[in-house]
Amino acid sequence: MKLTVIKESRPGENRVALTPQVCTQLIQLGHQIYIENGAGYASNFSDEMYQSVGCTLGTQTQLLQSAEVLLQVNPPAEVIVNQLPPKSVLISFLYANNHPELIQLLADKQISAFSMDAIPRISKAQNMDALSSQANLAGYKAVITGANHLGKIFPLLMTAAGTVTPARVLIYGAGVAGLQAIATAKRLGAIVECTDVRPETKEQIESLGGKFIEVKGAEQAKIEGGYAKEVSADYLQKQKEAVNKSLFQADLVITTALVMGKKAPVLITADQVKQMKLGAVIVDMAVEQGGNCELSELDQVVHSSGVSIVGQSNLPATLPQNASELYAKNIQNLLMYLANVNQFHFDLNEEITAGTLITHEGKKIKA
Ligand code: NAI
Repeated sequence: MKLTVIKESRPGENRVALTPQVCTQLIQLGHQIYIENGAGYASNFSDEMYQSVGCTLGTQTQLLQSAEVLLQVNPPAEVIVNQLPPKSVLISFLYANNHPELIQLLADKQISAFSMDAIPRISKAQNMDALSSQANLAGYKAVITGANHLGKIFPLLMTAAGTVTPARVLIYGAGVAGLQAIATAKRLGAIVECTDVRPETKEQIESLGGKFIEVKGAEQAKIEGGYAKEVSADYLQKQKEAVNKSLFQADLVITTALVMGKKAPVLITADQVKQMKLGAVIVDMAVEQGGNCELSELDQVVHSSGVSIVGQSNLPATLPQNASELYAKNIQNLLMYLANVNQFHFDLNEEITAGTLITHEGKKIKA
């Protein structure tokens, strides 16, 4: 098939959907690959690297007109979709619930669109799971970002001039990003604590050297497809009581708590921020879903009562080389599963297809 990759248009986006290494493997399978001039440059993949493995380079307009399968990271702009031939295939993050007009346009244009954020969380789809591959890197970068804003170091340091005590890090949410944040902060020498509504995370947190903060006397959070459902106001109140002592002692707080299909829960109020240590830092990884801290602002660093609240969006785009390498592998694995070298199977009774195919044959299949 003709696989096409164009440069991402989202501001601040540095990732690219295919890397030269993955292109080599797809070309060996029999695919033809078309790359927009300069598409990989921000991820440190030059045009020459793509050309040397057998890709064809071209301008965006040229490539879109004859695209059979368009591979992207972000949901494409409408101007891109309008240039795609009918019955072509799109694979990218789509966040269908957040983009109803785009999904309608894809259906109207007869485009078969697969959404990378809808890959089921099942064992056989793990190597296609782009939410996980990107969240893993984001969890690492959140700790590094927090460290950059802190006026102190992470590890215990004994020197002739005195002893420096280790930083205290508190993490909300032990999903993929939160667990990587625990591992990264531990490696840097911090004392790490973590809270999550899913009790099974206790063992995972402890296996990484973190301390699980238990919310006693609260009803159990409901879980659906591995995801935590929204918890009650009573739970959130009890969680605050359980976590406050750690929050008010923390140097760095990283919040990753998300609830599928909902606004992120507010876990740190303005009043709690007032009681935090002078110089403390909050990195709010949920800022794009509304934020876990009441004071977070998208792509801003807010200073309040001596606390810095970092609301940087799209952390994976700040590690574009690794993020593109992992994303491209996710795409390759999905492609090899959904299609042979000539065509897609479109088997709607198959679990991964049923989960990810959002529009097909002029209809909205999901959302
Ligand atoms: P996510 O990004 O949706 O949420 C992050 C974390 O926030 C979750 O651990 C969630 O329980 C937690 N959270 C929600 N509300 C909270 C609150 N009020 N206070 C504290 N924490 C709260 O999660 P992610 O990383 O996407 O993982 C979701 C699930 O999928 C997990 O159970 C994970 O183990 C599972 N998973 C399974 C995979 C597979 O089997 N292929 C691959 C990746 C993840």
